[in-house]
Amino acid sequence: MAIMWSEMMSVGVPVLDSDHKTLVGLINLLQRSIGDPEEYVAVYSVLGSLEEYAAHHFTREEKMMVASRCPQLGQHRQSHEGFAEQVRNLKNRYESNPTSVRARDCLGFLNDWLVNHICSTDMNYRAWVVGHVDAMASGQDLVEEESGGADWRRLKILVVDDNLNFCEILGAILQSVGISSISVVNDLAAAKSALIGQNIDLLISDWHVGVESGLDLVKWLRQGPLPLASLPVLMLSGHERMINRDIALLAGADEFMEKPISARGLLICLARLAARQ
Ligand SMILES: [Fe+2]
Ligand SMILES: [Fe+2]
Repeated sequence: MAIMWSEMMSVGVPVLDSDHKTLVGLINLLQRSIGDPEEYVAVYSVLGSLEEYAAHHFTREEKMMVASRCPQLGQHRQSHEGFAEQVRNLKNRYESNPTSVRARDCLGFLNDWLVNHICSTDMNYRAWVVGHVDAMASGQDLVEEESGGADWRRLKILVVDDNLNFCEILGAILQSVGISSISVVNDLAAAKSALIGQNIDLLISDWHVGVESGLDLVKWLRQGPLPLASLPVLMLSGHERMINRDIALLAGADEFMEKPISARGLLICLARLAARQ
């Protein structure tokens, strides 16, 4: 059963709550991916997202705890290091043998983290950081640093993919940096009407959208009028052939990535596209 976010889980700091919601989203995603033919894709993407999560969220929390002189910092940091190490071990195992790590392997320790860390240990800093001016400012500074200069919060992204689980992974990664305007469609007709009717800043399209091709969408876009014709496009593909990159770029895509994607790789790529836009 899916875990629902509740106010009981709130640490009272919106940017930290948003990180925690991302983690809840990843847990739900893993839960749903059990038995899915693309379970291994979901597992790898989630592990990549968890690595990002550990790097960014823990830094943010610890910076805020330092600024507010929270006395539990030492122990809290050790707990974060333990989580990061568990993620690293799972990712190393996956990289040496993708079939050796299943969604269930990750779920056990993530559920435990949600109950024993987010809903318990994290609550200990609440009284120190909430309302502390320097602590709140240091959490916000980091949001701006992570964007590499891109204003993520204003970006409107259209995702074209018929794999619901993968769309949710993308959504979780995008929301983790503050992008809230994300439209998801699963066929080319819906994509075209969204592109015409909405002010989209950036398009992420899968190569295979059901029986249709994302390449046709990019070609249609490039042949159309400005400003749509110059819209930044990231093309994704689950097919591991380097030649695909050339084909995608030739069709008009600006960037190409193979699935499974890592959160960091995706954000670096999007920052490049946003800078261009
Ligand atoms: Fe946390
Ligand atoms: Fe924490």
